[in-house]
Amino acid sequence: MKALILSGGKGTRLRPLTYTGAKQLVPVANKPILWYGIEEMVAAGITDIGIIISPETGKEVQTKTGDGQRFGAKITYILQDHPAGLAHAIKVARPFLADSPFIMYLGDNLIQQGDLKNFLRQFTKQQPDALILLHEVVNPTAFGVAKVDDVGRVLKLIEKPKVPPSNLALVGVYFFSAIIHDAISQIQPSKRGELEITDAIQCLIDQQKQVVACNLNGWWLDTGKKDDLLEANRIILDTYLTTSNVGEVDGKSQIIGRVQLGVNSKIINCTIRGPVVIGSNCYLENCFIGPYSSIADNTTLIDTDLEHSVILEGAKIVGINQRIIDSVIGQRAQLTIAPRRPKALRFLIGDDCQIELT
Ligand code: TTP
Repeated sequence: MKALILSGGKGTRLRPLTYTGAKQLVPVANKPILWYGIEEMVAAGITDIGIIISPETGKEVQTKTGDGQRFGAKITYILQDHPAGLAHAIKVARPFLADSPFIMYLGDNLIQQGDLKNFLRQFTKQQPDALILLHEVVNPTAFGVAKVDDVGRVLKLIEKPKVPPSNLALVGVYFFSAIIHDAISQIQPSKRGELEITDAIQCLIDQQKQVVACNLNGWWLDTGKKDDLLEANRIILDTYLTTSNVGEVDGKSQIIGRVQLGVNSKIINCTIRGPVVIGSNCYLENCFIGPYSSIADNTTLIDTDLEHSVILEGAKIVGINQRIIDSVIGQRAQLTIAPRRPKALRFLIGDDCQIELT
């Protein structure tokens, strides 16, 4: 069994962060999203992992993630020269996959840890041509939706249906036998110009191949948008964060609940209410850091109130006199109050930024 993790794509919904970096490397609880997927594969016993990368962000993904040794896996990087769809990514990965059965996992998705193992067991035992995971959603019109019979056989897949046949959306995790390659060779690009994996699976269904579905009852998050990223951060901190402190906290500071503080980080006169993770080499003075915040390495926060936010590496926030909530602040971004007159807002804001002032 092999795994194929997709870490290419355009990432338009997470701009401007994706102008300068891969969305799969954006941290959730201070760890790149992509790494959760890799760890999930290894926990399920799959160590031969191919990762699809793009020409724009591939090098960064490769440098940061490495050859897999740190995860106990062997990683092969596979360049997809343009994001022509999920089925196209499988096509490009054919030399790596050969005729092995495999899991395809979307690199910006997160599923509840430990769940994959059970589905893999079912796939290996039942040996269908494809096994897809479904998750109940409240807005099925926004997803690929499946129609399933009462023994779990998939009858039809519909991409973003106007009248959904069910509220079961396709999760970004798929199990395939090598027969999927024949199906992919038979499909044409969709209206949006991509080779769609739903079309390839539908092709299997039309040819009476065995396509089965399992319900994923644990959580599933697609972190491709800001609010989903914040929600993923909340759930991961809530579920997995353990307390540890290898930094320095002065006597005037108060640490409440589960807080993780990295090496060489200094906390001076702050209140930190967990769950909160703070990386290494950070400097925080006169701050309130509220629940569900992740603060990456090398950040400086002074006279700042913050909660339910993700702060990326090297950012600096000083003297903002209103609480910052539900925010994602990019790498090396600076948010400060200038002492000079006239009192005014002065911006250098990159393309596609979203700023809400009150
Ligand atoms: P999407 O989030 O569906 O696509 P995208 O990355 O282009 O994002 P956006 O819609 O915001 O522009 O892709 C799901 C995952 O699959 C994501 O990790 C990127 C990856 N992917 C590839 O590796 N190759 C591809 O051709 C496509 C379409 C996606």
